[in-house]
Amino acid sequence: MKLITPYCADFGKPNIIIKHFPDNESYVLIPEIEKLKGEPVRIYHRLYPEQDKRIFELMLILSRLQKETKDIELFAPYLPYARQDKEKKAGEAVSADLLCGLLKSFGVKKLITYDCHFLSKPGDFEREGLAIENRSAGPELYAYAKKWFGKKNDEFVVVSPDEGSSYFTENAKGQLSHSLKKVRGDSKENGTDTGIHAEIATMEGEIDVEGKNVCILDDIISTGGTIVRAIDHLKARGAKKIIVGATHGVFAGHRIADKILNNSCNKLFITNAILIKDASFDTQVEVLEIPNN
Ligand code: R5P
Repeated sequence: MKLITPYCADFGKPNIIIKHFPDNESYVLIPEIEKLKGEPVRIYHRLYPEQDKRIFELMLILSRLQKETKDIELFAPYLPYARQDKEKKAGEAVSADLLCGLLKSFGVKKLITYDCHFLSKPGDFEREGLAIENRSAGPELYAYAKKWFGKKNDEFVVVSPDEGSSYFTENAKGQLSHSLKKVRGDSKENGTDTGIHAEIATMEGEIDVEGKNVCILDDIISTGGTIVRAIDHLKARGAKKIIVGATHGVFAGHRIADKILNNSCNKLFITNAILIKDASFDTQVEVLEIPNN
């Protein structure tokens, strides 16, 4: 049975009720709980934006559901907390491990997600005992790019801005494709090294884009820093039209889409893995639908 939270109302009629008390604590009700004894269920739930709250609401759902069935899958198209996937500095908490372990211990047998950051390719995986089916929106993004350039009867080069997303270029078989190399430096705030989401120090990769159209594909756009840097790199090498596609429009900040579109980007497209409202979002950014079956 499909169990749909209000955050996935675009996938079907929600049958899990989530409300908030006056102090904003969450309340969860599964009205059809009596039908679920021993039944296989798949929960449809978005974990972003407001990831901490969405995760806690999921824990509430699972805490009740586990009393009825042990056969629980979770469809969460974007997995937050996936970028801190190792202890780079001694003492750092590895959020990717924590979240996967938490889902496993709350009875999730399998997580189905899209372009999970720490996996860097589609397929079946396991982390902290949690089975993960990682799908990729790469083919959908590439098909969109082909259509967009096709309209103008142009060929294009597919570029990923870093090695982690280089698998996105694989859809472009028979077409020119290339991965750039991004290196982040140390982030400094008021002279203090924060060490998280540091500025990009260098973007490397010689690629012949002189007079050619380019499509940049990445898994995530967060602050937009990576994409802006990649566009600058390609423009400096003579790229003609540049379009940008990403699976997850995290858009962490104000008018991130504008920042990219105003920086020589001819088209920006993302997927509905994340539904987010940004003042710059509605008209200019194309949102592609990913399969949720
Ligand atoms: C990082 O390795 C990811 O693939 C993205 O490139 C990154 O998360 C984007 O972050 P931002 O938009 O803040 O540069």
